[in-house]
Amino acid sequence: MNSFGKLRLGVNIDHVATLRNARGTVWPDPLRAALLAEAAGADGITAHLREDRRHIRDADMAALKAGLGIPLNFECAATDEMQAIVLAIRPHAVCLVPEKREERTTEGGLDVAGDEARLAPFIAPLRAAGCRVSMFIGHDPRQIEASARIGAAVVELHTGHYSDLHAEGRLDEAAIELQALQRGAALAHALGLEVHAGHGLTYDNVAPIAAIPQVMELNIGHFLIGEAVFLGLEDAIAEMRHRMTQARRGS
Ligand code: PXP
Repeated sequence: MNSFGKLRLGVNIDHVATLRNARGTVWPDPLRAALLAEAAGADGITAHLREDRRHIRDADMAALKAGLGIPLNFECAATDEMQAIVLAIRPHAVCLVPEKREERTTEGGLDVAGDEARLAPFIAPLRAAGCRVSMFIGHDPRQIEASARIGAAVVELHTGHYSDLHAEGRLDEAAIELQALQRGAALAHALGLEVHAGHGLTYDNVAPIAAIPQVMELNIGHFLIGEAVFLGLEDAIAEMRHRMTQARRGS
């Protein structure tokens, strides 16, 4: 085990809600998936309440907060509407992400450096309410330093570009991106930030990210929910956990 400690797995259950909403039914139920994930050893549940409510809805967040025994990580954009909902629900953690209506998923990191004057007062009441505030950012040192300055507890490094390069077989470029993520994790840790990572992670690309010593949590959703169709959610999570643990041990 690396000296930074256990690597946590946060399971993102957004796409259980995507499937439910595709038919306008009440199933599959995201809370049921979250409870299965908890039973399978997930350390936390992540859910993203998007402005357009395309997957998770307000009632899902309330049900997750009420029903879960493990921490809820509430992902959202830094808007007044979301701030009010977070303050009403009081999740363990809030991960602030950029949001564009037309995007299929969260494409880039948050521009903390360019929006510092607004974000510092925005997160203050969330911190006062006891939420661990996380910034979903790229590995750019300016974004990491700005996150530390505004008083965030956590940065989640966006692994989407690394994952895309890996999936396209552009392995030399993926290795360069990985090095930048490694440097970003080291800088964030040195500045006193807890480091998380996520986006686009799969069985095939998770190991190098899990092996970054300063990374304490991975948040993984789309691949796991897809894999659950074939293996069942519990086995899909167990396999991901196994790969994370092996990578952490350096084997
Ligand atoms: N972390 C953050 C901040 C995200 O926005 C997402 C996607 O909702 C994830 C992790 C999980 O990404 P994926 O679904 O690709 O595993």
